Amino acid sequence: MHDTSSSAGNGVGRRDTQDGGGRDDLATGGVSRRNFLTSTVASTMTVTLLDTARGQTAPAPARVSPRQPVPLSLTVNGQERRLALDVRTSLLDALREHIGLTGTKKGCDHGQCGACTVLMDGTRVLSCLTFAAMAQGHDIVTIEGLAGPDGALHPMQQTFIDHDAFQCGYCTPGQIMSAVACVGEGHAGSDAEIREYMSGNLCRCACYPNIVDAITDAKAKMET
Ligand code: FES
Ligand code: FES
Repeated sequence: MHDTSSSAGNGVGRRDTQDGGGRDDLATGGVSRRNFLTSTVASTMTVTLLDTARGQTAPAPARVSPRQPVPLSLTVNGQERRLALDVRTSLLDALREHIGLTGTKKGCDHGQCGACTVLMDGTRVLSCLTFAAMAQGHDIVTIEGLAGPDGALHPMQQTFIDHDAFQCGYCTPGQIMSAVACVGEGHAGSDAEIREYMSGNLCRCACYPNIVDAITDAKAKMET
């Protein structure tokens, strides 16, 4: 027969069954668990109340509204722009609404159409999915910054015109920025490769064949 009082020698772990099983106190050297818990809670409350009375509670962390403007500095098309923005502002909204460069278009605002493509340190990024704060310290180039200082169009802009690679034109700034990066990345080796690496830029007017021709032509001109 199992001896339930085998650990009673040290006073720990003995289940008290004297009240017929309804009581679940664990004797700990003569102090029941219920009494132990009661006295612990009481002392904790006493300390807390005393601390409160003395004004010693930890101060609540200061709450800062995300709408509070945060100073930012962006380099766009070689120009430094100082702004104070809600920290949640996208790069797209910073460019269009705060700097006034509306050449970059807002299509879906969800990273699915490519209309908002700009270059960040030469790499294409979706400005609708990039926080303006993340663009600090990087060189941003938009469609407005692609032409030369004398106003001469970038070869990619010129070939889009030459090949009639747009209809309504809404997707065109994003297409051109993406195409410039596509050539720079070395991903314009064939029509199939261009289509693959330009697949993130949608055109509702379905100018895809002309866009591929424009990129192929511009690639040759950019490499000479
Ligand atoms: Fe950015 Fe559509 S507006 S991907
Ligand atoms: Fe109209 Fe591309 S030219 S969406």
